[in-house]
Amino acid sequence: MPSSTPSPEPCTAAPVLIFDSGVGGLSVVRALRAQLPGVPLAYVCDNAAMPYGTKPDHWLVQRIVAVCLAAVAASGARALVVACNTASTLALDALRAALSIPVVGTVPAIKPAAALSGSGVIGLLATSATVTRPYTDKLINDFAGHCTVVRVAADGLVEQAERLLAGEPLDDRGLDQGLAPLWRDAGLDTVVLGCTHFPLLRDRFDARAPRPVQWVDSGAAIARRVAQVLDTLPPAVNTTGDSAWATGPVSPGLIRGFAGFGFGEPRPLPLPAPSPTP
Ligand code: DGL
Repeated sequence: MPSSTPSPEPCTAAPVLIFDSGVGGLSVVRALRAQLPGVPLAYVCDNAAMPYGTKPDHWLVQRIVAVCLAAVAASGARALVVACNTASTLALDALRAALSIPVVGTVPAIKPAAALSGSGVIGLLATSATVTRPYTDKLINDFAGHCTVVRVAADGLVEQAERLLAGEPLDDRGLDQGLAPLWRDAGLDTVVLGCTHFPLLRDRFDARAPRPVQWVDSGAAIARRVAQVLDTLPPAVNTTGDSAWATGPVSPGLIRGFAGFGFGEPRPLPLPAPSPTP
């Protein structure tokens, strides 16, 4: 007689893969580790092409799809988190068309920031690409139509976050210059950290702000969304440790930075054909 005991759920070591141009996705990893401890993660950074925020859109779409396809294959991932606003506001549709696993994106937290602001003046601190994207225009129209949104392109701060993670000294003048346009409107009380690199610098931003403001990022919301997606997939256990990949060389300081987030030394990610720099 066949047993009536239900067969155990299939278990897998397949990780959730986090993708960013650089270390910014580690701010999302922090939120994932807090909300989903024990879920195997993998990480890929396209550091050979960083920064993304100043590159042309047509080049970026092809590059992002090529890197994510290669990294999903290398890691055997069961879901992809695009932990990059610059990539998500441009390439989510292309990634979903190219991949058969669920893809979770990261977009600037305009909606919660608009709800939190008392004055109705909010800042959007992001890359040049993200502050000008139609996707961002739509988010602002849909959720912050009643607010004044001060858009600040702060590409230089991406490099500062990379330095922080590598244990290198930061440039205080560079930090102040990046933040300066936020302070011109005395009513601004809330700032969207619309680049995943920036939550890593949040304490530095706070220390340099001339008045208290609320900093809002997307990390916790992304982790909630990933939890929903994982509920629809077989459970996973970590059997091998969390792996990372990079498209370019990684300094000893950054290797230590990755280790601080639970990842092994990033391995080189082979790409099918090198994308010439735009
Ligand atoms: N971390 C990325 C983001 O969220 C961008 C960094 C870059 O410009 O490469 O937009």
